[in-house]
Parts: sequence; C-alpha cells; structure tokens
Amino acid sequence: MAQLLVDSLTINRLSPALGAEVLGLDASRPFDAATVARVRAAFQEHHLLCFRDQTVTDDELTAFSIQFGPLEAFPEKDKTKGKIEVYNVANVSPEGEHLPAHDPRVIFQRNNARWHTDSSYRFVPSLASILYGVEVLPDGAEGGETGFSNMFLAYEALPEDMKRRLEPLHMVHNYEGIRRLEPEMPPTSAGERDAFPPVSHPVIRVHPDRDGRRSLYFTCNTAREIGGGTLEEGQALHDWLREHVSHERFSYYHRWRPGDLVMWDNRCLLHRAIPYDYAAYRRVLRRTTVAGSGPVVGPFSAGGRGW
Ligand SMILES: [Fe+2]
Repeated sequence: MAQLLVDSLTINRLSPALGAEVLGLDASRPFDAATVARVRAAFQEHHLLCFRDQTVTDDELTAFSIQFGPLEAFPEKDKTKGKIEVYNVANVSPEGEHLPAHDPRVIFQRNNARWHTDSSYRFVPSLASILYGVEVLPDGAEGGETGFSNMFLAYEALPEDMKRRLEPLHMVHNYEGIRRLEPEMPPTSAGERDAFPPVSHPVIRVHPDRDGRRSLYFTCNTAREIGGGTLEEGQALHDWLREHVSHERFSYYHRWRPGDLVMWDNRCLLHRAIPYDYAAYRRVLRRTTVAGSGPVVGPFSAGGRGW
C-alpha cells in the first residue's frame, strides 16, 4: 500500500475507490489543531478514514467526534447506549444480552444491508458517521463487512443520457419508509413522525466545497423509487441505480478488526452492512454522527446553479 504521509501519523490507502487507514493516532485524547486539520484534509481526500487499534469509552468517542462538528441525537432511544448521541449498532442489547433475530433492533440492522447514507431522512442530512468496533466477527466468519460505494465515481461513470435524465429529479426520503421495506418493524411513534416528516433531496448532489463536483445521492433504505415520473418508472430507475452503484470499481468492503474506528463522509458515499449469522455471532459497534451544515444542494438549487 502506498504511504502518503510520514510524520506522527501514517495514512495508507485502503482501495483504489476510497478509504485510507490512519496509524499513529490515539483517538481517546484530544487532537491539537494541526492534527484536526490533517485529519480533515485526509477525510476530504479519501472520504473514509479507519483509525486502527483504538480503545475509547463512549465519552471519548463523543469527544473525538465533536472535534469534527456538532453531533446528531438519535431518534430511537432504544438503540442508544447511555448517551443519546451514541448509537448501539449491535445484535447485543446495551446491557450485553445477545438479541434474538426477531428483535426490532436486529431487524433494523437487516434494513441497513440496503445501500444508504445516514440521516438522509433529515432535511439537513449528516456530514459524517463514526463507527467504533467493540466486538467484531471472528476470522473466517462469513459476512459482517461494511460496504462503501463512492458516489462521485458512480456519477462520473453514468452514460451522458442518464446524467441528463437524472439532472432535474428528486427522491423522497422517508423515515417511516423503513417500515414499508421491513414490515416487521414496530410502527414509529407520533413524536418520531412529527420530528421526521418525509423530505425530498436532489438525486444529483452538487458539492460547493469541491468546485461544484457532482455525485449521486439516493438511498435504498428510506424508499425504493425515484420521483418525477410514474411509480413504475421511478422503481425501474431506482433498480437501475442500485445495480450501478454496486459495481466493485466504485466500492470498498471493510472487514472489521477490533479497535477499528471508521469515519466516513455521508455526503458522497453510500454504505451497507453485509448480513451475517445474527444467531451465531455477537457484533457490537458504537456510532456517533456529525451533523451536516445545510440542505443537499442540487443542480437547480440556490447555490448549485452556475457551479
Ligand atoms: Fe448506516
């Protein structure tokens, strides 16, 4: 692997499409301003950073995360661990009980096997997710990876007529839609529905911080159709895009090691959790989410025009 920087920290590329591992940093301690700046620059370049061999408490994970911006609070209290900013991504309860396959928290993980980007159901979706591996699958176990796909590369590889077709289109992202895809999930509460009404985002995302570079922006966990046509057309287009982004030349599959702390850019990556044998293996990850700074900018949004 190519070594890109040599100093107190080392950054090695993880795949041609995206991602780098970071060695030589202790995430349990505050970074100085220069380190935060270097991490930010590497994040902007690689879209995903994996800090190896970390040991952090929930408070330290929160303190690490907040260096990159304010954190989102999770809407579903039963999936948080202690603090509402720390999400328990696990088939194990916060109390340590290995959950049965029909538990809503395990079903929710199944939905995460669909390509998605975190918090797309918010009007202002998140900037980054940070996931820390506490208990991971043993060597040789099947599944359990987290797959990532680079939406800059996926957009740029589209045929020109598909780019033109997608340019004016939006997709409705619906928090409630998770229940449409996973009917065994218990219904959302009135409070959740009030907090997260359906939102619409452009399917082509314009990135003002990258001179207007474009990416695809859609998900498979909050709905299964693109707007702007009939339901059948929207579903067929959604199916086509799902197949397109699954191409391995855009993607990287992360095989978790204990102590991995992975931080990725939700503005330009999709991700999905590869299913594993939930009854045979325990897996515990903890997640924080760094809030975004504004709504998704599209080709025709104020701020998107002219880029
Ligand atoms: Fe996710």
